[in-house]
Amino acid sequence: VTNLAPYNTFKVEAFARDFIELSDLSSLSNLGNLENSLILGLGANILFTKNFESLVIKNNLKGKKVLKETDEEVLIEVASGENWHEFVMWSVENSWSGVENLALIPGTVGGAAVGNIGAYGQTVGEIIEKVKTDNGLGLTNQECQFSYRDSIFKRQLKNKAFITSVVFKLYKTAHFAADYYSRYESLRTYLPSHPTPQTVAEAVTKIRTAKLPDWKTLPTAGSVFKNPFVTKKHYEALAKEIKDLQMYPVDKMIYPRPGDPVFNTAEMVKIPAGRLLDELGWRGKRIGRVATYDKHALVVVNCGGASGQEIFDFVQQMRLSVKKAYAINLEPEIEII
Ligand code: EPU
Repeated sequence: VTNLAPYNTFKVEAFARDFIELSDLSSLSNLGNLENSLILGLGANILFTKNFESLVIKNNLKGKKVLKETDEEVLIEVASGENWHEFVMWSVENSWSGVENLALIPGTVGGAAVGNIGAYGQTVGEIIEKVKTDNGLGLTNQECQFSYRDSIFKRQLKNKAFITSVVFKLYKTAHFAADYYSRYESLRTYLPSHPTPQTVAEAVTKIRTAKLPDWKTLPTAGSVFKNPFVTKKHYEALAKEIKDLQMYPVDKMIYPRPGDPVFNTAEMVKIPAGRLLDELGWRGKRIGRVATYDKHALVVVNCGGASGQEIFDFVQQMRLSVKKAYAINLEPEIEII
């Protein structure tokens, strides 16, 4: 058995029956059927509430290569175990645009694709060309079914495909998310008048450092819930009660898929769960060894020695509180085991 505490950013203790670190692809074929296994990158988006009675594979696959380069674009293949932030910094050092808003997000390149990570108007699904998996068959961007913090790897292919590498298309000309700095006031204040990928990444780094905890000193998995979608009517009613309640247009955030419930994006908006929780007194609230960060109510932290179950109970109370007050069901953003 292996203690998984060093392998999750909540630093929660849980024991894996079997555990291996995978550093080269050839060892993967020896592992056989992975159906009951758990693949871990940095463990930055997971909460263990119990032991894992099967095999945990810690992904250490490394490597980056430029596949193709033109005057405008560059195609890069990156191994799934590469650290996400290091990849972002390498890209901006090369003046390639497309990932600069995603600086400082903890995790690996594979995890970024699974969770379709996003921040400040960029999401990783927008610049992924292809995701390669262990069965040799790559998935095209379309086949990955990216939507808000979601992909096929969280659904049909959960525990069925091992992502080996991700192919990104980055831009040599600035490709900043269209209106990200009009919607995110705070990002604009940190930017020079002619932003570059480097200065955007620096601005994002400053904001994230000021607003979010560093998991290395204060164990956390970032936002515990997704931001919910509500009808415009519901939003308007809430906005009367809750000062400065922002909303984000939904049409830019989701890509309706066959089989999805019919969803009239024109009538829906996305609202910040953090604002709702803050309004209900959750920011900086502590129960036992679990708390929310004092600068962000959506971010749950382990104050030291909390069990996964204690964190889970805390998260359930947050959810109940929002449900009671606003009739909104918050959906977990983290994977709960
Ligand atoms: N707010 C409060 N009080 C709080 C927290 C937030 O009033 O305690 C307000 C803010 O003032 C702002 C609004 O809520 O008006 C939104 O807050 P923020 O800009 O921090 O963004 P968010 O919607 O809470 C999302 C992502 C983050 C991402 C940021 C920046 C989700 C679930 N979270 O947070 O991603 O970094 O936008 O783009 O979509 C993550 O997924 O783990 C994550 C950290």
